[in-house]
Amino acid sequence: MTNIHMLFTIPILVLLFNVKYVSAQILWDSYQNCVQFERLLDCTDCRDAKDWGGVQLPYDDIPLDDYFQDYELVVCKGPGMCPDGTVKNVCTWQRYLFFNCFEGSPVTYRWETNSMPNHCYFSKTEPPLGSETKFEAYSVSGAFNVQVNNMFAYNLVDPVFYHTKLETQDDYDKQLCKSKWAETTLIDMKTQYEEKVYYSFEYPIAFSDYSWDSSETTMLQLKSSDQVVGMAINGVLIFSANSINGYDALFPSQLINPITSQSNRITPDFCLGTAESYKTYRYYMFSPCIYDSIAKTYASSCTNDRYPLCSQDVRNHSIYYVKSEQKNINPIGIAKDGRMIYGPYNSYGQLWQACDVDICNGRYFSKGYNYGYVATMFHPYFISCWGPGNKVTFEAKCSTNARKKCTLYTSEAVLHYSFWSITLGLSILALLQFTY
Ligand SMILES: *[C@@H]1O[C@H](CO)[C@@H](O)[C@H](O)[C@H]1NC(C)=O
Repeated sequence: MTNIHMLFTIPILVLLFNVKYVSAQILWDSYQNCVQFERLLDCTDCRDAKDWGGVQLPYDDIPLDDYFQDYELVVCKGPGMCPDGTVKNVCTWQRYLFFNCFEGSPVTYRWETNSMPNHCYFSKTEPPLGSETKFEAYSVSGAFNVQVNNMFAYNLVDPVFYHTKLETQDDYDKQLCKSKWAETTLIDMKTQYEEKVYYSFEYPIAFSDYSWDSSETTMLQLKSSDQVVGMAINGVLIFSANSINGYDALFPSQLINPITSQSNRITPDFCLGTAESYKTYRYYMFSPCIYDSIAKTYASSCTNDRYPLCSQDVRNHSIYYVKSEQKNINPIGIAKDGRMIYGPYNSYGQLWQACDVDICNGRYFSKGYNYGYVATMFHPYFISCWGPGNKVTFEAKCSTNARKKCTLYTSEAVLHYSFWSITLGLSILALLQFTY
C-alpha cells in the first residue's frame, strides 16, 4: 500500500513542479493585462491598480499641503556625488514613477518617470540630476502591447510579416550598432505613440505638450528620446545597446575612439547603470537592481576590487541576484512601442539564446500575434529595432559580445512537449501501478 502511494505521489509532485515551473507571466493587450503589468512596477503614483487588489499607492496617501506626495524619497549612503551636485555622505532624492492604464479599444497606457533609481548608484562626477524637493518627468503614452495583426504595417499578403527586415551584413551593422536608432517616427502608427516632458520649479509639476526636450526643464537633460528604447519596472530608462560612437556600450569591439581618445565603453556602477553625458540614469543591459535584492544598497562602481564579479564579467554579475522563482518569463519593462520586455530567463529557467530571438531581440510568445522583447546576456541586450524582425546569420561588428549566428533552431515547443511527455509517462506508470 505504501509503495503504491509513493509511486502515485511522485507524478503529482512532478505535475505541481511543472505547473509552478512553467507559470510564466506573458501579457496580451487587454486592460486586465495592462493593470497586471502596472502591478509589477515599483510605482510611486499608480492609481487604478487598486481596482484589482493592487497595492500601488505607497505615496499617494501622504498629504502634502493640498496635494498628495506622489514621489518616493530615496536615501542612499555613499553614491559619490549627490543628485543636487554636492558631495555628501548620504544622498536623498525624489523618485517619481506614474503608470496608468485606460480602458478602450485599444487599451492605452501612460508612464511618467524622472528615471531616478529606486536604488543606490555611484558617480564621482556625473550624478543623475535630481532634487529632494522637486521632480520633473519624461512621459510616454500609447496603445498597450499591440498585437502584430493589429499593426498598421501588418498585411495578410506576406507569408511572414516583418516590421523590420535586414538582409545584408551592412544593413545589419547600421541598425544594430546605431546609438540613436529608436526614433519615434519608426514606431507603428497603431501604437499611437506620444511623448512629453513634465517640468516644474515648484510642486505640482507643470506640463509641456510639445516634445521630450523642454527648455524649462532644469533637471531632465536628455534632449531627445532617440536612444531610449523603453523603461524598466523600477522606472529607470533603458537605452539602446550602443554608446554614442556606435559601439556596444559594455563590450565595444573598439575600446577607444582614435579621434577623440574617448572610451567607447560606458563606466557602469554596481547596478550597471550610469548617468554619464545626459545626467539621466539609465541601463544598457539587464540590471541586478531591477528586481528587489541586496544589490540595490551597494553604492559602488563596477570596477571596485571588493566586488570582483562585476569587474570580471558584467553578464554574470547582472544575473547573480536573480532568485530561482524569478527565473521564468516575467515582464521587466515596457518598450517604447508599448510591448513587453521580458527578463533574461525562459520558462525553463534558462537564459535566452541567439536562436530564441529575431534581429530586434524579440520573439513571439505562444501561438498567434503576441510579440515581445527579451533581455539577453549578449548584444543588443534588450531591443535593437521595432519588431517583429527577420532572423539572420550575421553578427554585429561593433560588439565583442554580439549575438551569435543561430545555427540550430531549438523550438520552445519541443522542450515543452518533452517535459510534458515525461510527466504524462510517469502519471501513466503510476496509474498502472495503482490499478494493479
Ligand atoms: C561567468 O559565467 C560563465 C558561465 O556560467 C562561466 O563560464 C564564467 O567562468 C563566469 N565568469 C566569471 C568571471 O565568473
